[in-house]
Formats: sequence, structure tokens, C-alpha cells
Amino acid sequence: MTKKMFASDNNSGIHPAIMEAIVQANDGHVPAYGSDLHTAAAIKKFKEHFGGESEVEFVFNGTGANVTGLKAMVRSHQAIICTDGAHINSDEGGAAEGVIGGKLLTVPSADGKLTVSGIEQHLHNIGNQQRSQPKAVSISQCTELGTVYTIEEIKEITSYAHANGLYVHMDGARLSNAAAHLGCSLAEMTVDAGIDMLAFGGTKNGLMMGEAVVCFNKELASELKYIRKQGMQLGSKMRFLAAQFERLLTDDLWLDNARHANGMAGLLAEGLMEFEGISLTQPVESNAVFASLPKEQIERLQEKHSFAVWNEEENEIRLVTSFDTSKEDVESLLGDVRKSFS
Ligand SMILES: Cc1ncc(COP(=O)(O)O)c(C=O)c1O
Repeated sequence: MTKKMFASDNNSGIHPAIMEAIVQANDGHVPAYGSDLHTAAAIKKFKEHFGGESEVEFVFNGTGANVTGLKAMVRSHQAIICTDGAHINSDEGGAAEGVIGGKLLTVPSADGKLTVSGIEQHLHNIGNQQRSQPKAVSISQCTELGTVYTIEEIKEITSYAHANGLYVHMDGARLSNAAAHLGCSLAEMTVDAGIDMLAFGGTKNGLMMGEAVVCFNKELASELKYIRKQGMQLGSKMRFLAAQFERLLTDDLWLDNARHANGMAGLLAEGLMEFEGISLTQPVESNAVFASLPKEQIERLQEKHSFAVWNEEENEIRLVTSFDTSKEDVESLLGDVRKSFS
């Protein structure tokens, strides 16, 4: 068996129950493009979690989910306010700006979170015809630094945004990990907290592939399916995307997978804290551990383990756990950390 990695939860395979769901869906011919029973069943599951009013569209990947949702909110002369480290800003190849034509207005953030004062600094030019007009705010739950907004923090942002005529989008590529951390439902952090549009992640939590755009705002829902098609995210064999979500949202598999990944990150963080010379650079609230350690130790660990050097100047690394990271994987890494210091 190939070695597990700490580079990304995208590096993990498919959860066996999800694989089984794909195999079961592979039965004969069914209507294409989402007119099948698996798609109907998966949408029903989403409505159970997020409420009957939600509009759900399945897409292939996280970038597609973000861009599809954002495009329903923003026109090309408008802007989206987000942190500088937001995935839509730093890791999606300019897809949002390229496809929508609008502008991203960024706010520096040390912990990955956007704040009301960060949003406010971009609102001074409303009504100025020379400037892109802010129309949406995008936050990531969990953030790209593994931190998690509290429900109160989300509500503060949505109330402020709505009061200023802005929609709120949430990049929930790891929303399940956030729910596991907060001990709340998926709805409490999203629809109940005032989010208008959600990109709900599956791939990083055990799916082969698949994300869902979930819209809670009726004003925005009707255009979504056309935007998805034009954005090349409408799968013809939709049943296979849908069957995965149908299973993920059954019997709390989404939560079990996320809890497990978070638990392994917690174990890893505890182990790392025991070494003098290693410090955690972010609170560990999900399935990512950010730590700084001497360059020499980083280089020695890289010989055997795969992980990201997040900030070379600060000797900061990022270790990501997954639904299938085992205690043995964590102990093996910690054992090599120990050896690297001896
Ligand atoms: C927070 C976040 N959002 C969105 C994505 C985009 O996913 P994809 O690579 O499937 O487009 C990622 C991928 O790692 C991510 O970490």
C-alpha cells in the first residue's frame, strides 16, 4: 500500500462506503443531466440538512462550485471582498476574475478570517463610477489556515454585509470539518447564520470528486443551473456525483469522516508541541496543522514525508490529515520528527 501523506486531504483516496455507492449507482441506463433518482435522493438529503428552500446544484470541483455561486451574485463591474489568502484569490488561477470579469478586493488576514472592519475598508467607493462596486463578501469555513469562524463571527459578517447591500458567499470546501469542530449542524453555520450561497465540499471528505453549490437566497437561485452549464460544470452522468453525496449525507458519514480527520490533526499537534523548537503558528481547529520548526528538521522530514512548506521565510509547514489518516501514520511522522532532532 502506498504511504499516506500529510500534503493535502486531496491526496487521499475514496472512502469505501462512497466507492460502494458509486458501484451501486452503476446499474443500467438512467436519465442523464440530473433527471435520475440518485440526484433526487441526494437533493432531498441536502434539504434535510439545510432546509427545504435550498437550491442544490452538483459540480465537479471546488473552483467550479465557488465560481458558479459567485457568478450568480456578481456582475463584471462589481467586486467580491475576501481575505488575501482566500482560495478564490490565491489558488484558483484567477478563475473568479477570469470567468465573472469582476474584481476581488482583498484584506490581509493573519488567521485566515475576514472581519467587519476588513470589509468596511472596501466600502468607501460605493457609488464612484471609476471603481468596481462591492456586491459580495466571500468567507471560507474552515479558513485556508485551518481556523474556524464561530457562528457569532459569521452572523456579524452577514448582518453587516446585508445592511450594506452585499451578498455573502461561503467557500465550504471543508465545512464538515468546521461543523465537527463547533459541534453544530451544517445549517447553523450557513442558512441560519445568513449565508446566501455555499460551496459545500465533498472531495476533501471522502468523495472521489464532487462539490455542491447550495443557494439559500431565492433571488439568486433561478439563474444557477444556467450558470453551471455555461461554466462547463453540468455532469451528464450526474447520478455518480449525486450517489456520492447521497451516501455522504446518510448516517453521519460526513461528520464521522471530518471528526476523524480533525482528531488526527489534534493528535499530531499535541505530539508536535512536545518538541522544543517547534511551535504551532495557528490554532488547530480542523484537519490542518501549521507549525514552524528549524529548517534542518524540515529538510530531514521531507526525505520521508510529504507536506507543504507554507512559508519558507518563517520555516512554517502545513500538515493536513484526512478521513483515512491513522494513529500509526501520525506516530510514524512524530517518530521521524523525534529522529530529526537527535
Ligand atoms: C478552501 C478551498 N476552497 C476551494 C478549493 C478548490 O477545490 P478544487 O481544487 O477542487 O477546485 C480548495 C482546494 O484545495 C480549498 O482548499
